[in-house]
Amino acid sequence: MQRKGIILAGGTGTRLWPVTLGVSKQLLPIYDKPMVYYPLSVLMLAGLREIAVITTPHDQEQFRRTLGDGSQWGIRLSYITQPSPDGLAQAYLLAEEFLAGAPSAMILGDNLFFGHGLPELMAAADARTVGGTVFGYHVADPERYGVVAFDAAGQAREIIEKPARPPSNHAVTGLYFLDGSAPARARRVTPSARGELEIVSLLGMYLAEGILAVERMGRGFAWLDTGTHASLLDAGNFVHTLQSRQGLQTGSPDEVAWRQGWIDDAALRERARIFARNDYGRYLSALPDSPG
Ligand code: G1P
Repeated sequence: MQRKGIILAGGTGTRLWPVTLGVSKQLLPIYDKPMVYYPLSVLMLAGLREIAVITTPHDQEQFRRTLGDGSQWGIRLSYITQPSPDGLAQAYLLAEEFLAGAPSAMILGDNLFFGHGLPELMAAADARTVGGTVFGYHVADPERYGVVAFDAAGQAREIIEKPARPPSNHAVTGLYFLDGSAPARARRVTPSARGELEIVSLLGMYLAEGILAVERMGRGFAWLDTGTHASLLDAGNFVHTLQSRQGLQTGSPDEVAWRQGWIDDAALRERARIFARNDYGRYLSALPDSPG
């Protein structure tokens, strides 16, 4: 069964108030594109063409206006509402019908990934049909995340949500490749002390059965956070620095769709015309003739 994608873009964004009082966090700009473009591009790089976007009821309209039905990128986007944000594992309950038994790759709408070899890393995760794959990334502040505890042999033993005393510096990123059993397992997750259906509880079930691969995402990758005002600015600066130096875009669903062969030159140029007045549009329009 073809793997399907989920972008979790719900939440109230309270940590970014007052910025997010009127607009969803995942629609804020990361330099020149809406935040959600970046995780969407990641799923597209993984080859996924059927993707559900989970939003709050009142933000859904803006997401539809921003992303449409996906046909401009040769993909199918559907929208699911999350009436109240009750934890990441809830996404699998909300998406159960959409998934219809298919394996999934869920990405958090505020997670940015960049790195050479990302498609290969995801292809390996996609190829694992039983169980799932998550990625551990070395961070300076693991207490803010789900953290991997390793045993003496270096095997992942446990994943603990926001531990006061982190057992390692390896945070679990917001990109989860799980098999078709995720919704059924999510139904067995009970709310944590903070009242949420924790993703780490769901991952713990896979781990206990020995069917969760915890792959290290090495230092050659950038995994950026957008959870605070400062990290949001840092992410924008990172994208700006990279793009202006390389003259290449990161996080462009238009470019990924074209490189995947899901849209042709004419369709790409049509997209470029919409943005003809800025650098993003000029970049897209030049792609088909660029020598590479
Ligand atoms: C969530 C997860 C956490 C994970 C993180 C990645 O935390 O609960 O396990 O490490 O996303 O971004 P949140 O950022 O929603 O607090």
